[in-house]
Amino acid sequence: MPGTALVGLQWGDEGKGKVTDLLAGDTDFVVRYQGGNNAGHTIVVGDQKYALHLVPTGVLYRHCTPVIGAGVVVNPRVLLEELDALQGRGVETGRLLLSGNAHLIMPYHLELDRVQERRLGKNRLGTTKRGIGPAYADKAARIGLRVQDLLEPKIFSAKLEVALKEKNLILTRVYGRLPMDQKAIEDEYLAYGRRLAPYITDTAVVLQEALDAGRSVLFEGAQATLLDLDHGTYPFVTSSNPMAGGACTGSGVGPRDIERIIGITKAYCTRVGSGPFPTEADPSDADVMVEVGGEYGTTTGRRRRCGWFDAIATRYAARLNSVTEVILTKLDVLSAFDVVRLAVAYDFGGRRFDHFPPSQTVLNKARPVYEELPGWREDLSEARALADLPPRALAFLDRLEELIQTPVSWVSVGPGRDEMVRAR
Ligand code: IMP
Repeated sequence: MPGTALVGLQWGDEGKGKVTDLLAGDTDFVVRYQGGNNAGHTIVVGDQKYALHLVPTGVLYRHCTPVIGAGVVVNPRVLLEELDALQGRGVETGRLLLSGNAHLIMPYHLELDRVQERRLGKNRLGTTKRGIGPAYADKAARIGLRVQDLLEPKIFSAKLEVALKEKNLILTRVYGRLPMDQKAIEDEYLAYGRRLAPYITDTAVVLQEALDAGRSVLFEGAQATLLDLDHGTYPFVTSSNPMAGGACTGSGVGPRDIERIIGITKAYCTRVGSGPFPTEADPSDADVMVEVGGEYGTTTGRRRRCGWFDAIATRYAARLNSVTEVILTKLDVLSAFDVVRLAVAYDFGGRRFDHFPPSQTVLNKARPVYEELPGWREDLSEARALADLPPRALAFLDRLEELIQTPVSWVSVGPGRDEMVRAR
């Protein structure tokens, strides 16, 4: 059975947790393939609410094996804390599989993330300050430490020495910070290694064998397409590849093993952190979206920037991922408006752009061209079939589907597990 990838089509926080829950019943493996504990998935199982940052959501379902693939950056302290907290709530975590090739987030990555952001001042990216960028930078520079190094103290120590020599120079001479102590880091991390040892394995082989045996594998993206390092709104992006293509490189399976690609998008847009956001709404509308949609980050608690649905950006994202179906979330939030808007193009200096512009200048200065539709002003939470939706909500949905050129399979009309409408 081929795998399924679940990817965000905007700037993250589209509601992937809820969709994972929807799919979990038929899923044997849930795989994280990129990012780290910058992510935040909120999942409601029964009457319990969980906020997961690093452990794949599959941990919450007894029949699922959660897998952390090679493309993830792992803060071992956070991973252990998350596992401890889950165990404390009665969740069995022993099934977790952790790739030995995943890179480690080290204490100096956290410190560098903080001081680099501070140095950037008003140009800062608005990162989650979890050390993600500096950890991926070391991976690319080939001076990163990996999960498997935790199992080999001598190698760990030698690699740390090489990395720390440079990092301490940067921390002290460039940023005026105190140097970090090799021994303290070694003691702390090797202790984590002893606790993580039972989970560490060759996850690529496990997944390849699972797919060969016809087991179902869900690759759960963190962050989203417009935060993709290569195809997002660079430099205001994360340092990994959340796109469906990243599921292959980040977990060690080939493209032919992923057949179903589900893109998730909200019925409006949000983003946290800095960067271009062409359809960002006026405060009067944004405040309503924040209030009704509860738009505060799971990881940092930051208020999300809010705006209208951007069909240009979403169509771009759908194509980058070869999305086979779209799940639309939070349609109920738009019930709060008399008029709802869809951006169908951008205008830059009188020039119309029907496609996502490859130029940062255009993207930064573009003004959205909106189509306005009458709002429906009705509670949608009881809707379970398309026929239950008010005609104006259906018209919005039809137009959105037409603009993004991808079929919508489900529509979420509330936070609850069953507040879903099957669209096809
Ligand atoms: P970093 O991933 O911490 O380096 O942050 C880079 C950018 O990605 C910032 O704009 C963050 O706000 C954003 N970001 C990172 N993780 C998430 C997420 O899970 N949801 C939404 N935005 C995120």
